[in-house]
Amino acid sequence: NSNISVGLLGLGTVGSGVINLIENHQEELVHELGCGVNVKGVLVRNLDKTRDVNINPEYLTTNPEDVLNNPEIDVVIEVMGGIEEARNHILKAFAAKKHVVTANKDLIALHGAELHQAASENKCDLLYEASVAGGIPILRGLSDGLVADKIQKVMGIVNGTTNYILTKMDDEGVPYDDALKEAQELGFAEADPTADVEGLDAARKMAILARLAFSTPVDLNDVEVSGISDLELTDFQYGKKLGFTMKLIGIANFDNNQVEVSVQPVFLKSDHPLANVKNEYNAVYVNGEAVGETMFYGPGAGSLPTATAVMSDVVSVIKNKLLGVNGHRFTKPRFEKVLKKPENRYGQ
Ligand code: NAP
Ligand code: HSE
Repeated sequence: NSNISVGLLGLGTVGSGVINLIENHQEELVHELGCGVNVKGVLVRNLDKTRDVNINPEYLTTNPEDVLNNPEIDVVIEVMGGIEEARNHILKAFAAKKHVVTANKDLIALHGAELHQAASENKCDLLYEASVAGGIPILRGLSDGLVADKIQKVMGIVNGTTNYILTKMDDEGVPYDDALKEAQELGFAEADPTADVEGLDAARKMAILARLAFSTPVDLNDVEVSGISDLELTDFQYGKKLGFTMKLIGIANFDNNQVEVSVQPVFLKSDHPLANVKNEYNAVYVNGEAVGETMFYGPGAGSLPTATAVMSDVVSVIKNKLLGVNGHRFTKPRFEKVLKKPENRYGQ
């Protein structure tokens, strides 16, 4: 098969991770798809910015049409953030019959229904695994893995920035402002971190999770939200003395045919598994009537982890919409037999 070309809207923390992954994991992509993946256009705001990523400068553009109406591009990856501009670009991409992968929970939480409608009218895919819990395949877990179950509750830590701040304040006594600055420098925070620290980012993710888990529209206004910006180091010191750890917890509950969704700081017993989810890591419990309790855990923000989620959607679109290939991985091994006898680790 000839290579598939994708275009990016945005080349920041997540966009750079996507370029890195496409470059460094091309062999895995070729093995899975039977063809390579190329980047043929990248929308940025500033062409003069120094970028720590290996991209042909000819592909950088400030004109969205170079991506959205580029006949070579089949899949548009929206990783620019924001709402109105991103929404317009995605609608144009569908009109040009391009599939869309996005990491933008702000947009999906607000305009998900409209975008799904536009995608289906144009026979295109819209996927957004990276929009919730970074590198954890939680949306796929809900929509594929647990699809035959009746989900009763989804609960956990779904914002990396606030979990990083809370961890630093609790474990190391780092003041709030310094911890937030570190989270921004590490690329975990949103362009405007207010959405992170006031709980809105987590609320958007909980709305997306609740919609998927309970198959019902959940409006952002329906989510009860409070953030962490008022917390002080003394709160953590008192909590610690009493054996508690503070976490920003999202809960979506389905009870008596009613959905209740909230995000708020909660003191957990320090030996609770969620109390031990540190830094930018996220963890989400999903309770299903048949499966019981499951837990999804992993990095909830950051360049490469989020890029893996983006690329999982890209691969899915290419397999299901562009190539119609399935199960390649199991029919044709990539390596000759490379098993070695496990070492005896008894007593380690
Ligand atoms: P970022 O580092 O701020 O990067 C944004 C990129 O988009 C930049 O390359 C910027 O161009 C470009 N851009 C922004 N507005 C533009 C406009 N109006 N026209 C053209 N280009 C524009 O953001 P990010 O952290 O990668 O996040 C991107 C998206 O992924 C957001 O929706 C975010 O919520 C989501 N997300 C982020 C993470 C994470 O860990 N960071 C995890 C999951 C999901 P310049 O480079 O020229 O400034
Ligand atoms: N700002 C978000 C977070 C990025 O910290 O969780 C991942 O969605």
